Amino acid sequence: MKKVILAALALAPVIVFAARAQAPATDTPVAKDIMLKMPKPVAGFEWAYPMQPPDFKPLPPDSVHTAEGADPSMKLTMRQINNGFGPPDWFPKEHAPMPDIVAHGQKPHVPACMLCHLPNGNGHPESASVSGLSEKYIIDQMHAFKNGDRENIRAPAMIEMAYAISEKDLREAAKYFAAIPRSQQKWIRVVETSRAPANHVGGGGARFFDKGAETVPVPPDMIYEVAENEQVELRNQHAGFVDYVPVGSLAKGRIVAMGNHGQMRTCASCHGEDYRGHDDAPRLAGRGAYYLIRQLADMKAGYRKGPALGKMKDVVSKLSDADILNVAAYMASRTP
Ligand code: HEC
Ligand code: HEC
Repeated sequence: MKKVILAALALAPVIVFAARAQAPATDTPVAKDIMLKMPKPVAGFEWAYPMQPPDFKPLPPDSVHTAEGADPSMKLTMRQINNGFGPPDWFPKEHAPMPDIVAHGQKPHVPACMLCHLPNGNGHPESASVSGLSEKYIIDQMHAFKNGDRENIRAPAMIEMAYAISEKDLREAAKYFAAIPRSQQKWIRVVETSRAPANHVGGGGARFFDKGAETVPVPPDMIYEVAENEQVELRNQHAGFVDYVPVGSLAKGRIVAMGNHGQMRTCASCHGEDYRGHDDAPRLAGRGAYYLIRQLADMKAGYRKGPALGKMKDVVSKLSDADILNVAAYMASRTP
């Protein structure tokens, strides 16, 4: 059974590579080559940059599936579910009309945004939540990927897209994700605990529960961000994630957010009272801890840089590794 779980989630990078096989030669760098130039994950946080295990075997491409809760007449093969230029939209009535770039992408370098970020923009731990970010912020980030201002081993697919996407498509995608209502941004359940259900990294780099009742310790310096269920493999946009965070991390994270005993400005002073985003500072509330940790660690290491970061640079220079973990856990636990 574990094998099935491991096998099923043929996530994005695989698709990108497959699509490229038929691509005409262009000046756009491709993810596979970009990857070679990326810095290694920040030491101590390797688990927050999850990668699909090398021995991963995808589910048979011809196996047929229906997402839980979706119209039962909608039956798709894994090949269709993993189609980078037409991934499934199991709940078409739950969102505003989708721009073509979000639903289908633009061959050959720009897969559909919803392949990785899902129609609700909430994404998976190895990608990012983009729902409810401002239109300008989303556009700026795509430019940052292109300008070399955001580098890590999870970034190559975004960098390839950033080179190829038109400004018009980018604006339409940004508008769509920015408009996703708060009620649909809730995606992460946070559990503060000394032990979590046993789990493993599977397809696409997502974590899945092992079968059985076993538990594992949650160490003080790690978070398990695990798919709520196997529906994630089908890109079911109702299937979110749970963060198992170390005991005490939420209270400590709150202290960091309040300025770490006067060491720095509070996070709310820029990101908004409820951390739901304000002006040029994006939403932090209810976003996955893995994504937040990658960003804070990358900023501190200098892998995420650029003029827009100006104000964050001072903040991250004062955060210890423990602060980064704790404040990410705390933000994930806030209501978006
Ligand atoms: C192949 C998978 C994939 C596809 C397709 C994809 N993304 Fe991403 N995206 C990612 C990953 C992975 C990250 C996180 C990078 C990191 O961890 O630093 C990301 C991050 C982002 C971010 C940064 C979010 C933030 O808070 O700063 C934005 C914005 C974004 N994507 C927009 C888009 C748009 C718009 C599209 C469609 C044109 C798109 N993405 C398609 C994988 C993808
Ligand atoms: C002085 C203003 C300021 C303060 C204080 C501040 N931030 Fe930020 N933060 C920003 C801005 C502006 C950005 C967007 C940077 C960009 O456009 O690249 C940002 C970006 C981020 C990001 C990246 C989000 C994403 O979508 O990729 C994270 C994570 C973050 N901040 C966390 C924090 C935390 C945690 C604190 C408190 C410990 C904090 N920030 C305090 C201004 C601030």
